[in-house]
Amino acid sequence: MTQYSVIFTALLIIFISFLYSVFILDSILTNIHIKYIDVSSSKKATQKVKEILEKLDLKKATFFDLGSGRGAFAIRIKKFFPDFQVYGFDRSPFKIYFSRARSSFVRQKVIFARKNIFDVDLSRADIVYIYTWPETMEKLKNKLEKELRQGAIIIVSTFPVPGWQPQFTQETLMIKKDPGFEKMYVYRR
Ligand SMILES: C[S@@+](CC[C@H](N)C(=O)[O-])C[C@H]1O[C@@H](n2cnc3c(N)ncnc32)[C@H](O)[C@@H]1O
Repeated sequence: MTQYSVIFTALLIIFISFLYSVFILDSILTNIHIKYIDVSSSKKATQKVKEILEKLDLKKATFFDLGSGRGAFAIRIKKFFPDFQVYGFDRSPFKIYFSRARSSFVRQKVIFARKNIFDVDLSRADIVYIYTWPETMEKLKNKLEKELRQGAIIIVSTFPVPGWQPQFTQETLMIKKDPGFEKMYVYRR
């Protein structure tokens, strides 16, 4: 290993550690009033959503990821369904800048906007994906009922919409300790 490659590796490690520290701090600060730390949907969960959408046989659709985090999930959906218009909304500016950089880097045209999900106009969405906390689901329920068009599909990971009857559900990981983790609830308005 040359001296330059040692310096390069050290700088890369410092940069990645810095980025992760910012992610952790950002998650704590933007969700400080909530008792959960946000995690991203796993690749298996994304695969499950892909299978669900294939089953529903949707060709062109407007897809909203409400609370898009660092953007990986929305970008994977765009890769799987290039004809979809995919949008990601998150209240964290850092996550939105990171998601935009990520989507340009991998050349997947996903539109990321910094927005509180309660201020997003849902009437244009054909499919809405939500992976957030039970308290948020409770509050979001009214908005979904008021704004989503007839026939819109709502896919919810882990924490179902209280009081709604899913059209069907799909297990993802089936962890013994937490069987509901990343379970998908599929609803149609
Ligand atoms: C569990 S993560 C899911 C990220 C992504 N959807 C995925 O599946 O990988 C939830 C995200 O929702 C965001 N979030 C929670 N409440 C929000 C709100 N009211 N408005 C905008 N974003 C919100 C958090 O900042 C976090 O990034």
